[in-house]
Amino acid sequence: MFRLGFSSFLILSRQHIKIMKQGLTTTALQGPFNYINGERVTSVDSTHDIKVSKPATGEVLCTIPNSGQQDVDKAVQAARAAFAQWSALGGLERGRFLISAAQKVRERLEELAKLEVLDTGKPVWEARVDLSGCADYLEYYGGVASTVGGLHYQLPGGNFAVVRREPLGVVGGIGAWNYPFQTISWKAAPALACGNTFVYKPSQFTPVTSVVFGEILTEVGVPPGVVNVIQGAGSTGEALCQHPGVAKISFTGSVPTGQKIMKACADGMKRVTLELGGKSPMLVFADTDLTEAVKATMLGNFLTQGQVCSNCTRVFVERPILKDFQEKLVTACEKMVIGDPFDNETTVGATITLEHAEKVLHYIDEAKKQGARLLCGGKRINPSDTKLAGGYYLSPCVLTDCHDDMTCVKEEIFGSVVTILAFDTEEEAIARANSTPFGLAAGVMTKDLQRAHRVSAQLQAGIVWINNCNVFPPEVPFGGYKMSGFGRENGLAALNDYTQLKTVYTEMSSKIDCPIYKE
Ligand SMILES: *[C@@H]1O[C@H](CO)[C@@H](O)[C@H](O)[C@H]1NC(C)=O
Ligand SMILES: *[C@@H]1O[C@H](CO)[C@@H](O)[C@H](O)[C@H]1NC(C)=O
Repeated sequence: MFRLGFSSFLILSRQHIKIMKQGLTTTALQGPFNYINGERVTSVDSTHDIKVSKPATGEVLCTIPNSGQQDVDKAVQAARAAFAQWSALGGLERGRFLISAAQKVRERLEELAKLEVLDTGKPVWEARVDLSGCADYLEYYGGVASTVGGLHYQLPGGNFAVVRREPLGVVGGIGAWNYPFQTISWKAAPALACGNTFVYKPSQFTPVTSVVFGEILTEVGVPPGVVNVIQGAGSTGEALCQHPGVAKISFTGSVPTGQKIMKACADGMKRVTLELGGKSPMLVFADTDLTEAVKATMLGNFLTQGQVCSNCTRVFVERPILKDFQEKLVTACEKMVIGDPFDNETTVGATITLEHAEKVLHYIDEAKKQGARLLCGGKRINPSDTKLAGGYYLSPCVLTDCHDDMTCVKEEIFGSVVTILAFDTEEEAIARANSTPFGLAAGVMTKDLQRAHRVSAQLQAGIVWINNCNVFPPEVPFGGYKMSGFGRENGLAALNDYTQLKTVYTEMSSKIDCPIYKE
């Protein structure tokens, strides 16, 4: 990465000058966007160009290739070639690189956060929080790397076995557009800590920061080929899943794409980790502090414009507090600031694409037709700033009088839409919370400790938050129950998904016992 000198400044387009004012290095946006063997390279067999737009303004941000099989093959070959050297390092050495990378992410936090805002349209304060979290993940796995180890079993007669924990080889990652830098960090950090090398395909909507992730690792001394990035849409991801040189795919995204990925991996018997969508419940009991319940509901629904797979979009509220809860929630939603995501005050940024914004609005229309009552929001907003006129801004939406069989309650909308459902008893709330094919996350708001744990134990979800929502410390596993996927990211649990076990048995007797052998 270099910052442009004065002479090159003169030949920059107006757009680039604007970007420079925001403190960004322009190389991040100039491409090329495939990153193989430690450098940005032009695609060799792209089937077509993909124009990436800025959600905040609707303008074109950059153009990426739809990388073909040869591009994917180049990236996988680079990762295979780097594997011998990388996997032979000690965990402590590998971990040191991850810790240096964490430090670089912190140093460049402001610049990276701004790139992330350009790509995703999320408010800049949130991007800062995301990026700082990514630094924590890198640091966490940097520390964990030297603890990755196996087991020893003492067996009769002095014999023994050791169970070696070995890397898989080349791991492929396929990411989502809601948390681009986070998705690559969550996958690459444990994969690399365990000694694997890595090929990542970001979402075609948010291609920019993954390449910078690769550059940062190169900058801190990770050998070329250990981390590679390949751009494209579904066909590129499919080529990665089907490449015989890839040992495992870790995917974050929708259920239908997760199913396709699992099928594409079946022929090659590849391992998969799937972090898929959800329709997570939050149970708000009458004894809870109303303000805290409203805060948790907002964290559970309106981060990144509701485009969070783990958000608790089905809010079950115990009937006696229903009215007060709704009033407080609506007041809080109306205070949210919709607008330029680069503005520190903004709390609601832009939706990722126009198509997606329309899909969210369609869900809201459908909900009203099915009898839901709109308490606030749910409209496309045109910010007063004309430069944002082409952006896709939706006001946070609260729907009440919802029933379990409404489309807005059953399907993942992936937008800022909360559905409120009233309940009368704990048993009923648990049963209704569980009556979904998904099982990613859940929230329980109550001051009753016993109830909080009784309910948590019965909820079918990979993570339950008591008296909070959408909290992701690097130490604790995250992943789905039911159709929300399997495998775990984060914590020591992720190590299982990035390693394989090899048992080595050792015979200590010089004469082995073989009853069927005759002298
Ligand atoms: C995430 O956010 C939106 C609304 O806030 C919702 O429609 C979508 O289903 C949520 N995802 C999950 C997993 O609950
Ligand atoms: C926005 O917040 C950042 C980070 O806290 C700060 O450095 C910057 O000065 C703020 N910008 C304005 C215009 O207040």
